[in-house]
Amino acid sequence: MYDPLVYLNGEYLPVSQAKVSVLDRGFLFGDGVYEVIPAYGRHMLRLDEHLRRLQNSLDGIRLINPFTEQKWRQILQRLLDENQSEDQCVYLHISRGVTDERNHLFPEKVIPTVFVMVSTLLPVSKDKLGKGISAITLDDIRWHACHIKATALLANTLLRQQADDEGAAEAILVRDGYATEGAASNLFIVKDGTLKTPPVSPLLLPGITRDLILELAQNNDITCEESEVSEQALITADEIWLTSSTKEIMPVVQLNGKLVANGQSGPIWDKMIDIYQAYKAHLRQGEI
Ligand code: PDD
Repeated sequence: MYDPLVYLNGEYLPVSQAKVSVLDRGFLFGDGVYEVIPAYGRHMLRLDEHLRRLQNSLDGIRLINPFTEQKWRQILQRLLDENQSEDQCVYLHISRGVTDERNHLFPEKVIPTVFVMVSTLLPVSKDKLGKGISAITLDDIRWHACHIKATALLANTLLRQQADDEGAAEAILVRDGYATEGAASNLFIVKDGTLKTPPVSPLLLPGITRDLILELAQNNDITCEESEVSEQALITADEIWLTSSTKEIMPVVQLNGKLVANGQSGPIWDKMIDIYQAYKAHLRQGEI
């Protein structure tokens, strides 16, 4: 069986041999942060931005970055180069390390646990993606620091599971009458030709895919704005998209069991997915 190479606390080893203590604060408290970075042709997409967000997440939980940017690049690239696929997804995880006893307070001396693995990113054709997904709206039960990419994902997993239980692919979260994001994705809507996404705030994760889409929209004459999306605006949108590093840009064609517009992916999605695929193709050739 394929036993991919991973990085754990200074060592490169097969995943089957990578072990962490039960006294790790990541295990006991979900006390850690993570990043997910897609790579095409072994070139990482927006690595600087991912490392910047990682730094913000670490600052948010008061944990010192264990490595320089150069060291991160070196570890991630080695795993991408030594594992099997051309297109892969990096998962990196830093917890507040192993302590002597279970205590909510931070230990005095912290040696963070650093774990990195990569997995294959399977290509999804435009035709298949264009068929769209269904989503449901759910109350956003998460905390007020969703801009931190924390490994404590219990609320997200409960919400995602509830969506799945109800036959939907994703939950769109609503707080005080406004949609924030998906349980594991950012939200865009299109109304009368304008692309909209909620502004960054502690209530949502500043997605790297989100920011790239905003930039690509601006460069390709698609009118776009960062503005609040009320539940009503969501329900009456012409198009709804959910975006993430692993799922790219998913059109939502059914919301709460009702068709979104005519129940097909829309024209702005059709344009944006081509632009996004072209961007990936340049990256794969090492041109970005
Ligand atoms: N999650 N919002 C949430 C809550 C997310 O978990 C994610 C991605 C995003 C999109 O961010 P980005 O475009 O940087 O991937 C937004 C990753 C993929 C995960 O947890 O696996």
